[in-house]
Amino acid sequence: DWNMHNFAERVIEECREKVGGGHVICALSGGVDSTVVAVLLNKAIGHKLHCIFVNNGVLRENEGEEVVNYLREHFDLNLKYVDASKLFLDKLAGVDDPEKKRKIIGHTFIDVFEQEANAIKAGGVSVKFLAQGTLYPDVIESVSHKGPSAVIKSHHNVGGLPEKMDMDLIEPLRELFKDEVRAVGAELGIPESVLWRHPFPGPGLAIRIIGKITEERLNILRKADTIVQEELRASGWYRKVWQGFAVLLPLKTVGVMGDGRTYESVIALRIVDSVDAMTADWSRIPEDVLAKMSTRIINEVRGVNRVVLDISPKPPSTIEWE
Ligand code: XMP
Repeated sequence: DWNMHNFAERVIEECREKVGGGHVICALSGGVDSTVVAVLLNKAIGHKLHCIFVNNGVLRENEGEEVVNYLREHFDLNLKYVDASKLFLDKLAGVDDPEKKRKIIGHTFIDVFEQEANAIKAGGVSVKFLAQGTLYPDVIESVSHKGPSAVIKSHHNVGGLPEKMDMDLIEPLRELFKDEVRAVGAELGIPESVLWRHPFPGPGLAIRIIGKITEERLNILRKADTIVQEELRASGWYRKVWQGFAVLLPLKTVGVMGDGRTYESVIALRIVDSVDAMTADWSRIPEDVLAKMSTRIINEVRGVNRVVLDISPKPPSTIEWE
């Protein structure tokens, strides 16, 4: 794509000029936006870009390692993987309020990130900039301060980061819409499997485990969620829907296995169509795909004996359950 090629060239040049001899740090989530930012800046300033990936303990199965390894191998990204999962899970222990979960994860993330940034600075390099994957719609929303969902759920998890760290922002994607970010990413050689990932919330699986988070419940949700991802991809529906995932409910119901009665957890399937996440409708996934997901979850995930399908539109429901 010639336009995106030009865009990438121009932005790489602009970033190089803006940064001068300084260094930049960037929080890499593995999502589309932060990945494209990191690869763009890497082309502009190489190892003067310091990417930090924080494992917050509530990631999907393999979410962290896969993306990190890929980016290191294919783009020679200067990237540090920080496993802070124990810290996050300790702080989340016993918490069931969704907004509290978000706050804990947001604050802990800032603490961890700040510590890593300070370690880089202590190494003697002058870190002047913080890179962020802000898109054009975010720019508009923050100007008008009217993102309704932002009021209902405190979405902007790392909102306080730039102010707190006394760094200038560098936002290479702030002129772009999501589809353009993908086009730039493709131009830069980022694979489709990364560019077409579904959005994944900052608080991760924490807001998909309704109620208290435990290692055991995380394991159950991870396994069920992996099956949902696998079946969406295998059936060709992954690219057709906006988001699809599993939610672990805080209740047990009765089932039967062999001669015995079971009393186990319920998984809800949440699969939606949307263009901007402001409104959404449940995806009309073929019955055989749903059947496969259900059968596999019940057979393969110990501790689950029932699967239900969420058929609620947004509004009045939201995409996430918390
Ligand atoms: P809701 O549940 O509000 O979700 O309909 C709309 C979109 O936002 C994502 N989401 C979040 N993303 N931090 C995030 O980074 C959050 O706290 C958060 N809550 C919801 C959700 O996955 C959907 O794409």
